[in-house]
Amino acid sequence: MDISLLRDAVPPLLEWFRVSKRDLPWRRNRTPYTALVAELMLQQTRVEAVKDRFVQFLAAFPTPEALASADEEEVLKLWEGLGYYSRARNLHRAAKVIAEKGFPATFEEMRALPGVGDYTAGAVCSIALGLPVPAVDGNVLRILSRLYADGSNIDDPSTKAGYAALLREVYPPETADFCEALMELGAIVCVPNGAPMCGACPWSGLCRAHLAGREEAFPVRAEKRARRTVDATVCGLRCGGRYALEKRPAKGLLAGLWQFPFFEGDVPDFGPVLKEKRAKHIFTHVEWRMTGRLIETERELAPYIWVGAEELREKYAVPSAFRAFMEWVK
Ligand code: ADE
Repeated sequence: MDISLLRDAVPPLLEWFRVSKRDLPWRRNRTPYTALVAELMLQQTRVEAVKDRFVQFLAAFPTPEALASADEEEVLKLWEGLGYYSRARNLHRAAKVIAEKGFPATFEEMRALPGVGDYTAGAVCSIALGLPVPAVDGNVLRILSRLYADGSNIDDPSTKAGYAALLREVYPPETADFCEALMELGAIVCVPNGAPMCGACPWSGLCRAHLAGREEAFPVRAEKRARRTVDATVCGLRCGGRYALEKRPAKGLLAGLWQFPFFEGDVPDFGPVLKEKRAKHIFTHVEWRMTGRLIETERELAPYIWVGAEELREKYAVPSAFRAFMEWVK
């Protein structure tokens, strides 16, 4: 691909970013640690959902040492609602490595931290260490596929590798601004759903998709794999103001997090159902169709643990998949 197009695109992008970037919490008082926390939280999660949680997380764990010495349950509780909880466990483990060995100084050391893949390592190297390492996420794939009117399948790893190689050649000294500007353009101008705002784009005179009036023909992706659906029953068991919780299995979806007794097949007869409510939750590969039942039981049944409403809200990380049923906890 023609490298001069991307080279010409760098200065207007940096200029646009200086003027148009959003004021986001992780762009203030940045340290390598705060950049790492932000990039891990922002993987797969929207900026709006991350903002407050980032501030709360850093208030609780202002340094890698503070995070390293926290309890896992406490870390998961602060991650509540962000989803993909393995990120929280990995960040906790990464903090232990950093507390012991210091913050990574190279891409290879960064990439070796638990939970840190090419994208996160590139972003943190660019943003916090001044290293010219590309970070190619969905936003970057979209803006580059449009800039080049490139019909390569963006789900194909070689497409991502090709863009990373192009970016490496044009990386400017302002590594942090460049990395964030690429993402920012994809987030607020060259948006994923609906028409991009080409009138506000610093690349409107360069973008081959725009010049051909074909912005929305890019990026090209493979057929999406269909999601599996799972029907489940979620039992809100209550006994004298306490609620039954169980820990999910150590492997698989929402591993090791807390839930109301959850059944994919037959459901035991716990007694008369006081309320019933349906909810669904969509994961990457699975959709849960849940029927929630509120049931008052006569005893605190095994094998569950039973906790009061306040304790449940404050101490236990209940994933947002079950948020619809939290209204029963009073
Ligand atoms: N998405 C991923 N990283 C980001 C960042 N640093 N700023 C805004 N959105 C992002």
